[in-house]
Amino acid sequence: EKGGFRHFMLKEIHEQPQAVLNTIRGRVVPETGEVRLPELGLDEAAVRALRRLSIIACGTSWHAGLVAKYWIEEWTGLPVEVELASEFRYRRPLLDGQVLAVAVSQSGETADTLAGLRMAKERGAPVVGICNVVGSTVTREAHGTLYTHAGPEIGVASTKAFTSQLAALYLLGLYLAQVRGDLDAAARREKIRALVAVPGILEGRLGAWQARCRELADRFYGCRDFLYLGRHLGFPLALEGALKLKEISYIHAEGYAAGEMKHGPIALIDREMPVTVVAPRDHVYEKVLSNMEEVRSRRGILIALGEEGDEALRQTADHVVEVPRPPDPALNPFLYAVPLQLLAYEIAVARGCDVDQPRNLAKSVTVE
Ligand code: F6R
Repeated sequence: EKGGFRHFMLKEIHEQPQAVLNTIRGRVVPETGEVRLPELGLDEAAVRALRRLSIIACGTSWHAGLVAKYWIEEWTGLPVEVELASEFRYRRPLLDGQVLAVAVSQSGETADTLAGLRMAKERGAPVVGICNVVGSTVTREAHGTLYTHAGPEIGVASTKAFTSQLAALYLLGLYLAQVRGDLDAAARREKIRALVAVPGILEGRLGAWQARCRELADRFYGCRDFLYLGRHLGFPLALEGALKLKEISYIHAEGYAAGEMKHGPIALIDREMPVTVVAPRDHVYEKVLSNMEEVRSRRGILIALGEEGDEALRQTADHVVEVPRPPDPALNPFLYAVPLQLLAYEIAVARGCDVDQPRNLAKSVTVE
């Protein structure tokens, strides 16, 4: 049942190329740059009238929403709010028919996300579900559902659900930009071509990433705290990397926007503190590098995830996990998510933790 893997989580990490491919399949026409999402049930006039998006989710699904904010704001110019469902549901709901509400949930049964979805509906907002479980409550209550086709996720820690949510949200963003005329066919063709390359890139790297993460785990499995840093698209990845580590290894971990470090968390850094940094060579790379220098001057241990062949990164960091450069930096979240999952996995295994069934956690949180 685990297909030769030691845990469901590891099997599901390795299923990500297929999960992402299945989520894209049939929804894009690479030759024309067209994105087809009839299942959203949105008419084009309503899409053109949108003023804003409100993405509602919890946990890892919320992190997927945070990534999507960067994409969708960039491509469409629409403001995107990403709401923790447990907070959203107790605020005054500032939604109406011109706000697209997007409920992101692997299980489709998360109580807070459902409450948020129902509030959005009551306010007259069109509601799209992004969901992995066929026939779940989110899919029955949303006006339309964009399914992630990740297949059943058994491990409590979300892995392939996350990357397939990213794929679905990427398609949603392109679709909105297409209908609203924000991205022309040539631009969409490039974005689609880049997305379609992701499964192959992941497939080619999984083995090397796992081996590298095992080496790092052997060194760091005894640590008490980890800090994760990133900027721009690397910021939600830092949050996700820290969440994966804490939930399965029980090591305290915090994800932070790298630029926020000097507003507090820098006080934590000493020679016992590993700092995992998401550092692709994008437009904020230089800024991230200077944050790494700050960690180094306080003797923190730097584990950097960055591009292969990046010599400056090798000079600055103590340890580097190499990630290939994708055709478009917008794809980095897919590529950096996987080694972050593997790092958490290998550390948890080294600590003898029950990776698939972490204490105190349930696969779907159907009560608040
Ligand atoms: C983390 C994890 C949780 C879920 C959260 C939302 O690995 O699995 O944080 O992401 O409970 O669950 P869904 O997506 O089912 O609404």
